[in-house]
Amino acid sequence: MQALNWTPALWLGFEPMDAMNRDFMTLLGRAQEASDGTVVTTWQALVAHAVQHFGAEDAWMRSEAFATAEQHTLEHRVVLNLLREGLGQAQGGDLAPARQMAGELGAWFSRHTQSLDAALALHMRRVTTTTA
Ligand SMILES: [Fe+2]
Ligand SMILES: [Fe+2]
Repeated sequence: MQALNWTPALWLGFEPMDAMNRDFMTLLGRAQEASDGTVVTTWQALVAHAVQHFGAEDAWMRSEAFATAEQHTLEHRVVLNLLREGLGQAQGGDLAPARQMAGELGAWFSRHTQSLDAALALHMRRVTTTTA
């Protein structure tokens, strides 16, 4: 499993999104390192965070009629569904899917942050500096 380390490539320059991304990395790290007894609680925290994190980005995209909103929002929805599925299975006593997902989410997160999130952050930086 690949540990998720902060790199400058993940910095977006729009603090509300950077703060959420740091939180995501922290919570994913906890989920990756969870003992069998803490898989469910670390996943609950990760899912709760993802609801808020993805929801905030979706709301920004809606309010800005953002060009890649549809694809970005869809990716959020797919990943959130997978996270919820993993949590549900872990709550039912099957930890394997959550453990496998925790190992794979780092690569998804890096890709998502550097592509879809980066485009949104660039736009948000523009609109928040021109209207401030
Ligand atoms: Fe996103
Ligand atoms: Fe994000």
